[in-house]
Amino acid sequence: MDSIAITGGTRLNGEIPISGAKNSAIKLMVASLLTEEPLRLTNMPRLRDTRFLGQLLQHLGTNITESDGPDGPESVLHTRTIRSHFATYDLVRQMRASFNVLGPLVARNGQAKVSLPGGCAIGGRPVDLHLKAIEALGVTIDLHEGYVYAQAPRGLKGADIEFPIVSVGATEHAMLAAVLAKGVTRLGNAACEPEIEDLADCLNAMGAQVEGAGTPVITITGVKKLHGASHAVITDRIEAGTYAVAAAMAGGEVRLTNTRADLMEALLVKLEEAGVGVTRLNDGVVIKRNGARLKAVNIDTAPYPGFATDLQAQFMTLMTLAEGESVIRETIFENRFMHAAELARLGADITVSGSEARVRGVDHLEGAPVMATDLRASVGLVIAGLVATGETTVSRVYHLDRGFERLEDKLNACGAEVRRIHGDGIDE
Ligand code: UD1
Repeated sequence: MDSIAITGGTRLNGEIPISGAKNSAIKLMVASLLTEEPLRLTNMPRLRDTRFLGQLLQHLGTNITESDGPDGPESVLHTRTIRSHFATYDLVRQMRASFNVLGPLVARNGQAKVSLPGGCAIGGRPVDLHLKAIEALGVTIDLHEGYVYAQAPRGLKGADIEFPIVSVGATEHAMLAAVLAKGVTRLGNAACEPEIEDLADCLNAMGAQVEGAGTPVITITGVKKLHGASHAVITDRIEAGTYAVAAAMAGGEVRLTNTRADLMEALLVKLEEAGVGVTRLNDGVVIKRNGARLKAVNIDTAPYPGFATDLQAQFMTLMTLAEGESVIRETIFENRFMHAAELARLGADITVSGSEARVRGVDHLEGAPVMATDLRASVGLVIAGLVATGETTVSRVYHLDRGFERLEDKLNACGAEVRRIHGDGIDE
């Protein structure tokens, strides 16, 4: 298993190009199951999660061609016919978002057998809302031996679906199924994340009729068939936010390009409150800090446009060195503070109580071996390593490879000293 070693103490100066959003790309890839024509996705991130989903889609009948075109990395996904409607436990448990193939499979093919994803490191993460939405669309759902058997031999029917809580995955899943349903579907209390709008834009380019994405009410008028399209994946606001925090932590001046400041306003405002310089540009943002100590600020994670839960671990890391006490409340996921114990190994002073963490700033962190527990937590530890004295080694970085493209290269281009140690112990 690979690990990452960081020699702390260098400032970050330079430019970091932001990739396409992982969380969007994996839903857009799934959309290719809805048409027999090719779907071309540009600005594609090349990640463990996209590779992994690619394998599942190939198993279901999708032909995938990857290349580096004039618009950057692109993938063409072509599902002439659905070859299999069966997604095994082995395929789904490794990446929860694979579960989202269920809706498109049953919408196009009339049936699907997809494994329940099971728990994951950041909490129970059930799929009850997904199943209720798919059922409301006229699909018969049976659960046996860990599998969901979905059937709709006569096709899906539009429905009025009011979500009891905001769920990104369930909103997207319902959209992916309802586009081919007969009649109109209304999704109430829908998630408003930018990735939902991105999915709607792509589906509309494929001939769907989706309105209101990005607001809490989405209306979908079903169509008989979708066609091929070309779509650019939206910028990864979580990757951008992560590098913004890294620059704030290490000090220096970093320009994040190929991204949008408006998608990470909640973070930028908090960075400014903490004393970090933020300049919003047309195609990105500049983050600047010149040595002055950061001030502690509080955050509550919330659905978009609130503070993203996927940036909580990174922000907690930043607060370990701020002056004063910061209160961090996690309102989206249970059990999403596992990084606190790892940060404590580097000298951070954090007390966790239920969904609240109190971070009292210390004057320095010391390098140590630490372990990545989930995707976003692992990058928080890398950020800590950028300022810790000596060397920090983060093990189990396969978590990190799920969602961060060429992390070492991007940081090193700005002066960081980050190197990958392969499972066989060889440095790269
Ligand atoms: C997505 C993102 C993830 C991000 C999260 C919240 C992807 C691949 N992942 O995850 O990075 O952290 O949004 O912004 O896009 N819930 C239920 N029942 C359900 C579904 C969800 O109770 O059927 C609960 C979850 O346990 C959680 C809350 O709803 O407490 C929100 O989860 P959700 O928005 O669905 O997150 P994901 O789509 O899994």
